[in-house]
Amino acid sequence: MNRMSQNIYDNEHFYKGYTKIRNNKLSYNEMIEMPIMKEELPDIKGKMVLDIGCGMGKFIQYMLELNPKQIVGLDISNNMISYAKELVDDERVSFVVTDILSYETDIKFDVIVSCLAFHYIEDFNLLMKKLNKLLANDGILLFSTEHPLTTATKQKENWSHVESRFNHYKLDHYFEESARPIEWLDTEVIRYHRTIGTMMNTIIDNGFIIERVLDTGNTEMSLKLWDAEDIMKVNHRPPFIVIKAKKY
Ligand SMILES: C[S@@+](CC[C@H](N)C(=O)[O-])C[C@H]1O[C@@H](n2cnc3c(N)ncnc32)[C@H](O)[C@@H]1O
Repeated sequence: MNRMSQNIYDNEHFYKGYTKIRNNKLSYNEMIEMPIMKEELPDIKGKMVLDIGCGMGKFIQYMLELNPKQIVGLDISNNMISYAKELVDDERVSFVVTDILSYETDIKFDVIVSCLAFHYIEDFNLLMKKLNKLLANDGILLFSTEHPLTTATKQKENWSHVESRFNHYKLDHYFEESARPIEWLDTEVIRYHRTIGTMMNTIIDNGFIIERVLDTGNTEMSLKLWDAEDIMKVNHRPPFIVIKAKKY
């Protein structure tokens, strides 16, 4: 298996730990990322939708309330798709287990969404080419990914604990676009760092118009439900970036 199709979510230990974190109502996903993705989601009523790296199916569960025609949930992990199938049992939803870069279909999607999966994919240019092919003309791509200001550092400890605990987030090696292995849940997880410019220009060069770019910060929910330290950490640096683009 090459590096761009790393499948850590089928490692049982990692999977167990991850599902626990993802089911926490106070997680970064629930507090910071999902609120923005929900806000930016275009009208999907009667539309064909693809969710790339759908994981446990939580965003699909939300999108079903909005009356799409059909949703395809795609993920490289068997474990994740099995979980999603249990969570979402609806005739409008089908699932496929594959690496997005190998996915072939005749369907032209009106909307493609992806929550926090693209930083696992090494070749962003190939990914954008693929998404252009999968989208209908005027189709919308909406995705979140780890923010380049957050993925840049190569230090093992991302925070400087001088003076007070989380007063500085480290930024180094910004221009070095390459793998950033981290240790998460006792597992080596490989994410890929690319600059903001590379991301934007690759999207533009592959036939998209960028409509929105959002640096995710604290939300009404996180400000209400998180403790001061967690709020301060997000105030210091955007954990994720959300990009909305239209195929022309
Ligand atoms: C952090 S999880 C996010 C899951 C879900 N989107 C959510 O927000 O709850 C990332 C997901 O992307 C999937 N993934 C990673 N690389 C992939 C690839 N090349 N093709 C398809 N799915 C991939 C993983 O298996 C995992 O389920």
